[in-house]
Amino acid sequence: MQNSGVAITGSGSATPAASLDNQELSQLVETSDEWIASRTGIRQRRLAAGSESLSVIATLAGQGAIAMAGMTPSEIDLIILATSTPDDLFGSASEIQAQLGATKAVAFDLTAACSGFVFGLVTAAQYIRTGMYQNILLIGADILSRWVDWEDRRTCVLFGDGAGAVVLQAAASDRLLGFELKSDGTQNQCLKLAYQAESKQLIKGVDVGQGTYQPITMNGQEVYRFALQRVPEVIDKALFRANISVDQVDWLLLHQANQRILDAIAVRLKIPAHKVISNLAHYGNTSAASIPLALDEAVRRGQIQQDDIIAASGFGAGLTWGAAIFRWGG
Ligand code: ACO
Repeated sequence: MQNSGVAITGSGSATPAASLDNQELSQLVETSDEWIASRTGIRQRRLAAGSESLSVIATLAGQGAIAMAGMTPSEIDLIILATSTPDDLFGSASEIQAQLGATKAVAFDLTAACSGFVFGLVTAAQYIRTGMYQNILLIGADILSRWVDWEDRRTCVLFGDGAGAVVLQAAASDRLLGFELKSDGTQNQCLKLAYQAESKQLIKGVDVGQGTYQPITMNGQEVYRFALQRVPEVIDKALFRANISVDQVDWLLLHQANQRILDAIAVRLKIPAHKVISNLAHYGNTSAASIPLALDEAVRRGQIQQDDIIAASGFGAGLTWGAAIFRWGG
């Protein structure tokens, strides 16, 4: 019989080399290390240079995940790239497929902002559960520095660039234990990277909108409130579906937006601080990359071990949010 369980068997990550710490940032906008660190926990972020591309860091992250899974790129059936910042609006997944040499794989992009990795995980799992594909590479990667207003201190201090990836494989037992995904477009205005069209008349009576994307805008307090209310709810629901009690969770792996958000959600869920994975001090908010980047670092330093139960949750623009409960390893 065909295996239709889902196992997550490898992880990888990559970040640009250049970093910018809070002190350096205070040369750009009126802010301070004290303000940023006390409000967010962020100390520095990695930034992709103009010459760097999303597909290169995403490919590096993918290579790491494929190697950890003990596979070769030619065995991958499907590549899903969760991103809001592709190199090409037509999608960057195919370019990554080519760079990896994953000749058999079909590849596409998925956009769900900071929820992209969790949404991608659930999407990938469906292909395995139906028996359609056996080996899937899921990458979360973003270069939000391209779209940040570097004169807006309310947003530019928060974001950084990076990529993380996992390999999902068909397995005899299902290690994706439960999930729940949500969207609420009525709150879309809270967090935007919106296209602004300018009318261009082609001929009399026919015009098209040719503009550009505008820098990120955010209502920080609304997003903060949304995260504190919705994320514990969705994790509770996913735990219920998984038939797992909160005490059984080994690691709380949240989208790395803000340390205050991580701490407050852990308190609401009654998960002790030592079970909360956090690396945002070094990277800031890397959007779709943040969960797999933090996961990969925790796996590689031996913090997350085979069979550990992870409660992961992404939340962000859309608004979108979701949680997935899984056991680490094959
Ligand atoms: N440095 C110094 N002062 C600042 C800065 C800064 N970088 N940014 C804002 N301020 C000032 C404001 O101008 C304001 O001053 P005022 O009272 O004179 O007007 C004061 O600090 C307080 O501003 P608030 O916006 O009320 O600050 P708050 O305590 O809410 O913290 C923050 C802002 C950190 C953005 C918080 O609201 C937050 O974390 N929200 C969640 C945002 C988030 O996580 N977004 C990403 C999630 S979704 C995704 O990942 C895409």
